[in-house]
Amino acid sequence: MKKKLLLAGLVIVAVLVVVLLVLPRGEKNLPEKIVVGSSADFAPFEYVDEITGELKGFDLDLMRAIGQELGMEVEIKNVAWDGIIPGLLAGNYNVIASGLTITEERKEVVNFTDAYINAGQVIAVRLGDQRIKSPKDLAGKKVAVQVNTTGDLVVTEMQENGSVAIAEIRRFNNAPDAFLELMNGGVDAVVIDLGVAGEQLKATPGLYQMAGEPFTVEEYGFALRKSDTALLEKINTALAALRKNGVYDEIYKKYFGE
Ligand code: ARG
Repeated sequence: MKKKLLLAGLVIVAVLVVVLLVLPRGEKNLPEKIVVGSSADFAPFEYVDEITGELKGFDLDLMRAIGQELGMEVEIKNVAWDGIIPGLLAGNYNVIASGLTITEERKEVVNFTDAYINAGQVIAVRLGDQRIKSPKDLAGKKVAVQVNTTGDLVVTEMQENGSVAIAEIRRFNNAPDAFLELMNGGVDAVVIDLGVAGEQLKATPGLYQMAGEPFTVEEYGFALRKSDTALLEKINTALAALRKNGVYDEIYKKYFGE
């Protein structure tokens, strides 16, 4: 009898320990609101509405929907692309939503949510320019990229390993400046994410065309600090729910059509 009582007592204590320590700590790990860092120079994924000044885009709508799903407030900060990961690590925001490709190198410093869209690098050239049709045609050409993007990485790799002797790589702080340089004739091509090239072609018809198909396979994920595991799980759960309940598809349609 005494033994049984002792056992029951131990079970109660164990349950209390779980309830008092583990659960509250898990909740405490969640921030009061989701502060998002985004480099809003990357339409249609994140951009500033020229008329209203509002922050818009596929990634941002998706993050706002995730906040709604979780009952958490979402605040979006427009930050510079270069240094967006250090800014996360420094605690300036707790999620990056910025067309950020999931890569092995980045995984060493941040956690990624489940992938939320596919993207690959494409080559954009001036309309009518028939010289460049695939990456190997970039040999002897000048190429513009956004600094420290996967586009930058892939052309730098080609140049460094000698597979394509690119004459010059011009690195810009934001994506629109890379296209301006192409229009002005300072470079022969821009290497950039497919969706962004597509949007640029639509926004400024008659200026640019795509040279061939995407030549890399990439996926975007939201990035969090490695220590923020509770929020990571929540966001993944919300993302799955939004894919199921049709909200994801609605947002997709809004920015990419059918
Ligand atoms: N997907 C590319 C990368 O992760 C480019 C992302 C650029 N994002 C932006 N908001 N400018 O490197």
